[in-house]
Amino acid sequence: MTKAEISEIKNGNNGELGKYLNPTNDTKTLFFTLDKLGRLPENFDGKYFIPLCNHPIEKIRLLAVKNIGKLCDEKYLNQLENISISDESTMVRREAISSIGRMRNKKAIPILIKSLKDPDPKIVLQAIRGLLVFNEDEMVISELKKLIDHPNEVIKNVIEKEYFDESKSEYNGDHCKSPNYLKNVVVNGDVLEILKIVPNESIHLTFTSPPYYNARDYSIYQSYDEYLEFLRDVFKEVHRITKEGRFFILNTSPIIIPRVSRQHSSKRYPIPFDIHPFLIEMGWEFIDDIVWVKPEFSAKDRNSSFRQHRKPLAYKPTAVTEYLMVYRKKTHKLIDWNIRQYDYKTVQESKVLGEVDQINTWNIDPTFDKTHTAVFPMELCLRVLKYYSFKNDLVFDPFGGSGTFSKAAQSLNRYFFTTEISNKYFERIKENIGQNVLFNTEFPNKYFSFQEFYKIIEANK
Ligand SMILES: C[S@@+](CC[C@H](N)C(=O)[O-])C[C@H]1O[C@@H](n2cnc3c(N)ncnc32)[C@H](O)[C@@H]1O
Repeated sequence: MTKAEISEIKNGNNGELGKYLNPTNDTKTLFFTLDKLGRLPENFDGKYFIPLCNHPIEKIRLLAVKNIGKLCDEKYLNQLENISISDESTMVRREAISSIGRMRNKKAIPILIKSLKDPDPKIVLQAIRGLLVFNEDEMVISELKKLIDHPNEVIKNVIEKEYFDESKSEYNGDHCKSPNYLKNVVVNGDVLEILKIVPNESIHLTFTSPPYYNARDYSIYQSYDEYLEFLRDVFKEVHRITKEGRFFILNTSPIIIPRVSRQHSSKRYPIPFDIHPFLIEMGWEFIDDIVWVKPEFSAKDRNSSFRQHRKPLAYKPTAVTEYLMVYRKKTHKLIDWNIRQYDYKTVQESKVLGEVDQINTWNIDPTFDKTHTAVFPMELCLRVLKYYSFKNDLVFDPFGGSGTFSKAAQSLNRYFFTTEISNKYFERIKENIGQNVLFNTEFPNKYFSFQEFYKIIEANK
């Protein structure tokens, strides 16, 4: 039988359909018929579905329940309730609750409320969905509010957004703005000290590559714990100064500290994985992991001795990747809300035209700088800016280095703010991005010591 034939039969004589839905039929016929029924005509008699709700094959029971649900007829409420309690398959039970919810019938309320106690969080979520239709009903509201203490995070989130979120979801004129005194500013000093005086919710995007623990000479920490603690403090401040629902992109990779002598082994530190739990705890939501892939020749070969002796356990692949971990400042608002804060012209002018990276591996050659030992390739910065910011946004790099991200930002008509502790690199930033006033004469690039910056902040209080 074809799909077209099924369609003809379902709109005609229901008895004809009974032939195909007879529980003694082979599974293939039953499955095909149930699956292809599509939308059912009004007054369709669902009696043929009932025996199939006891069919030994889970998929058949599931489709039978789904088709009963399409009928939206309260006479099946009890049947569906029984299935939702007693079917051995949680998928079938879920479908039964979903079908009950879709009826949008007040008589379903007590059944849905009972299902809020189900051990399967997906069933609870289906029941919540069904109950939210009756969001005016005091009893429904009171039952749903109780779920704020539910152990499941998705359920808790839904309830928090529905009943406990105080923040308004309409237009907020300030979202696309940023303080003028931070626009195109480079500050020479310790990022932690500087950020302490930057106001809340000032910036739209942060992209950074922090020091590589003690793998390079510009950073010395007493221990790995001290290093992680430092980054935790910085990223907490970054979170505070980031606008609602905006992004933080962290470029790191596991690093290696070479061995002391042949009697010792080198040590590898999984930096991105160790930082990740801190970020979640402080209110960043994990969004994506993008892998920056470099050509093989650009990385130090770690495999040469293995290639000769070929003995297991000593295998060490050459690392040609770095992570771009993408986080969003946690909020109940959807990305769509963030986009709606911008005017039509800005959204149009910020559209990402041309070819788009379809997958999460970005092949980009590394760049070498005459002064700095570890700089971002311009191309990497441009992609991050295009995908994660709008024109005229204020973007931030706490570990400015040679200033590549700021330079890229300026070239795409974004404002930058960056901090760099080393005098040598601060001078390199000046040389790298200069006084560029082409983009916006109102905000020429400015270079401040911490004291100078402090005065600016005080003056703008
Ligand atoms: C990996 S590099 C960043 C390079 C940069 N992405 C670029 O494209 O040039 C890290 C930088 O952080 C700086 N840094 C280290 N500790 C800092 C601190 N406490 N405050 C500000 N900058 C710091 C280092 O001097 C170094 O230039």
